Amino acid sequence: MSQPVPFIPDSAPFSAEQRAWLNGFFAGMFSRAPVVGGVPSPREASPPLTPLTILFGSQTGTAEGLAKRVAKEAGKRNFAPTVLDMAQCGLAQLGGEKNLLVITSTYGDGEPPDNAKALHAALAAAVGDAAPSPRLPALRFSVLALGDTNYTQFCKAGADFDLFFEKLGATRITPRADCDLDYEEKFSAWLNAALTALSSAEAPTPTSTSAAAQSVSHKSETVNESGFSRSRPFPALLVTSRNLSAAGSAKQINHIEFDLTGSGLAYEAGDALGVVPHNCPALVADVLAALGCDGEEAVPAPDGSTVPLRRALTEFYDLGKPSNDLLALLAPVVAGVADAGRPSSTSAAPSTPHHVIDALLAAPAKPALADFIRALRKLQPRLYSISSSPKAHPGQVHLTVGAVRYDLAGRARKGVCSTFLADRAVAGQARVGVFVHSNKAFRPPANGDTPMIMVGPGTGIAPFRAFLEERRATGAKGRNWLFFGDQRAAADFIYRDELLAMQADGTLTRLDLAWSRDQQEKIYVQNRMTEHATELFAWLEAGAHFYVCGDASRMAKDVDAALHAVIERAGKKSADEAAAYVQALKAAKRYARDVY
Ligand SMILES: Cc1cc2nc3c(=O)[nH]c(=O)nc-3n(C[C@H](O)[C@H](O)[C@H](O)COP(=O)(O)OP(=O)(O)OC[C@H]3O[C@@H](n4cnc5c(N)ncnc54)[C@H](O)[C@@H]3O)c2cc1C
Ligand SMILES: Cc1cc2nc3c(=O)[nH]c(=O)nc-3n(C[C@H](O)[C@H](O)[C@H](O)COP(=O)(O)O)c2cc1C
Repeated sequence: MSQPVPFIPDSAPFSAEQRAWLNGFFAGMFSRAPVVGGVPSPREASPPLTPLTILFGSQTGTAEGLAKRVAKEAGKRNFAPTVLDMAQCGLAQLGGEKNLLVITSTYGDGEPPDNAKALHAALAAAVGDAAPSPRLPALRFSVLALGDTNYTQFCKAGADFDLFFEKLGATRITPRADCDLDYEEKFSAWLNAALTALSSAEAPTPTSTSAAAQSVSHKSETVNESGFSRSRPFPALLVTSRNLSAAGSAKQINHIEFDLTGSGLAYEAGDALGVVPHNCPALVADVLAALGCDGEEAVPAPDGSTVPLRRALTEFYDLGKPSNDLLALLAPVVAGVADAGRPSSTSAAPSTPHHVIDALLAAPAKPALADFIRALRKLQPRLYSISSSPKAHPGQVHLTVGAVRYDLAGRARKGVCSTFLADRAVAGQARVGVFVHSNKAFRPPANGDTPMIMVGPGTGIAPFRAFLEERRATGAKGRNWLFFGDQRAAADFIYRDELLAMQADGTLTRLDLAWSRDQQEKIYVQNRMTEHATELFAWLEAGAHFYVCGDASRMAKDVDAALHAVIERAGKKSADEAAAYVQALKAAKRYARDVY
């Protein structure tokens, strides 16, 4: 009978390399190789494991999930992998690494995700030295960058890390892979190439089951225990879609409830829900008319099956920002200015078509249908912060969704998914594809006694409704402080009754509200924070976790600036000391953001 193989856990007081060496040693020693007189035959023992660190930068968990998949695959290929959060990694630690795979997303406008900011800054400073001596000459690395081609600064953070490591003298073992939202294929190819390159340079001659002969399974996507996932969403019944905004509001924020009965889907407060939308039939009709088609034409769906054109345009293809391929197909002359970045960006060139329909209408000639379909992007699911605790609403999941509507270039525009949920999916009838997107970095404190401060104006309230429900359901005793607001109290105080009831029953210790348009001067949540600087700082000193959710473009930046100001003023610190205080909060995972 084979003996169990001893394993050195991550918590053991060894470096990654020492741990890998020891695990390799034990694996070889205790492998199933024939044992001669109690001593393993050296010829048959497994080769030692190669240490490999997988470093991730992730805001909403995608890169983290991929890092874990890398570790799983690497474990099968004779590596001893360690998954490392960038927030836990400094320059000194990198100096001790030999084999490094970096996976990072990009946020904001080309910025690294929150957990990657400090390492990014440290590396930027290191390469910025007048004469950077190669400091990581023994390091072999490769980068997988996650991003979204809707953004001008596509995969910028990944590109930065790739350059930093190169400048510090490390060896790139395989080229960086820049992934759009559809990352599976590129991820698999990159992983295969990276592990093959690392093992062929390091390990003894590969055997027939070696890395070179293997390929990464495409099916290993992070799947909830239910078996439902991004690539296999659960058709959930929409049970409620209710407008929370009152008459007179400039907004329409809907409370959405799905029934998860029978799905086996499990989520935690802080997770997001992926929703698979359909395009608006009126927009599809406009596109069909512009193409001169009746919708019955047979076309390929992204999965290779053949479907009628109307269904393809409704369910499978993105009719939002045109791809560069589509611009080149329809109007080669304007293709050069096509990459104007995020459609909402003010930097957009006036001639850049905003949506597929604009490009079609501006085209000098109708395209061939097959070429047109080939140039479309896949319609992507949208993520929404879950606004319910599963403990308070077993079998259900709730969302808080702001409908996106605006006029542009003489045309009324609608956000695909938010208006699908608000207008087109009929409560009680519609089944909508959903999946759970785990966000482990955004959870209520593990200790129920720890105070929490939540800043979530507008739809940013969503995860905090879930956090508060969770704390009430578990009887957690920690103090809870919510900063909430929007334009007008009378029209925009969503979940008013629930929040006031939570205040009355003691779940919500403090509720500070900011209504920007109820008085002459604009008042926002960040102003409320600075008004209560002394108490806010006292909560932080008492160990409070600080959370922000909602608008990334302005609110989250202003709240971050207010947090620094509070710490400076109430903590009597210099700007540098306040920055260090905030950095320490982040490193201790006491400052978490869910911003979009
Ligand atoms: C982790 C995460 C959590 C989220 N949680 C929530 C949540 O709880 N609630 C919520 O409502 N949303 C949330 N979102 C945002 C959500 O995923 C969608 O992005 C949002 O609903 C818009 O999607 P849509 O399909 O309706 O619009 P789309 O069809 O994707 O259109 C949106 C795009 O339209 C353009 N646009 C919008 N307004 C204008 C304008 N005035 N002028 C020009 N262009 C404009 C912009 O380019 C914008 O990107 C979250 C996002 C993430 C990543
Ligand atoms: C608010 C926001 C800003 C983003 N900014 C960028 C960007 O500037 N460039 C880019 O390539 N991708 C951008 N993205 C896309 C993310 O990088 C992409 O969705 C990635 O898969 C997320 O990975 P994560 O869950 O590990 O953070 C942005 C996404 C959001 C929600």
